[in-house]
Amino acid sequence: MQRLFKYKLLYLWEIGDRMTKLTSLAESSRGCELCPLAKQGRTQVVFGDGNEDADIMFIGEGPGFYEDKQGKPFVGAAGKLLTQLLESIGLRREDVYITNVVKCRPPQNRDPKPEEIEVCTNEYLFMQVQEIEPKIVATLGRFASAVILGLKDVSMGRVHGQKFKKDGYFVVPIYHPAAALHSRANLEPLAEDFKKLKEYLEEKSEVRAEVSQEVEVEQMGLF
Ligand code: URA
Repeated sequence: MQRLFKYKLLYLWEIGDRMTKLTSLAESSRGCELCPLAKQGRTQVVFGDGNEDADIMFIGEGPGFYEDKQGKPFVGAAGKLLTQLLESIGLRREDVYITNVVKCRPPQNRDPKPEEIEVCTNEYLFMQVQEIEPKIVATLGRFASAVILGLKDVSMGRVHGQKFKKDGYFVVPIYHPAAALHSRANLEPLAEDFKKLKEYLEEKSEVRAEVSQEVEVEQMGLF
């Protein structure tokens, strides 16, 4: 009994410590000027939002117009679809953690540049993943998938919905919700990807301890 109490305390202490680290990282990101995006019209840094003790974390590309104004990721049209897809598998936004590869809006929503991605991920994104310790990192679209898998590029058609083992968690690349807004034909595969996420989350054993479906990224020839 006493031991159980001790473990509970340790667990709560660990969660508290993790939150403090994330909060101070978010604070320090506010005035970030490490890449040119700081001076290219951003209103504010969009660090991330949601449950810092989540089993699943979603990573998009970068803030758009509405995210830049509100300071929260995925609050525009793509965000509404993301919320609906989460609800379709019984999750609320508060259950998950959501962030982006780059934390500042690229002008005219252009693609983030390699140097912007490198600085921002090394400074913030990889720390977020490390602190949140999710079982699953769902990467939304090509950019986030390539960054987290550590590849130059990926073909979403080949990798979406599969899980790849990485540093104590699984990466599951899924289509970006914006792709489904662009073409309704992409909605069905996206909804299927979410069903897979639900299955992976419900798998009995700790996801990070499971090796049976492990796929070595390097062996897949993703290009
Ligand atoms: N909103 C975000 O926060 N990220 C995206 O990738 C797209 C829209």
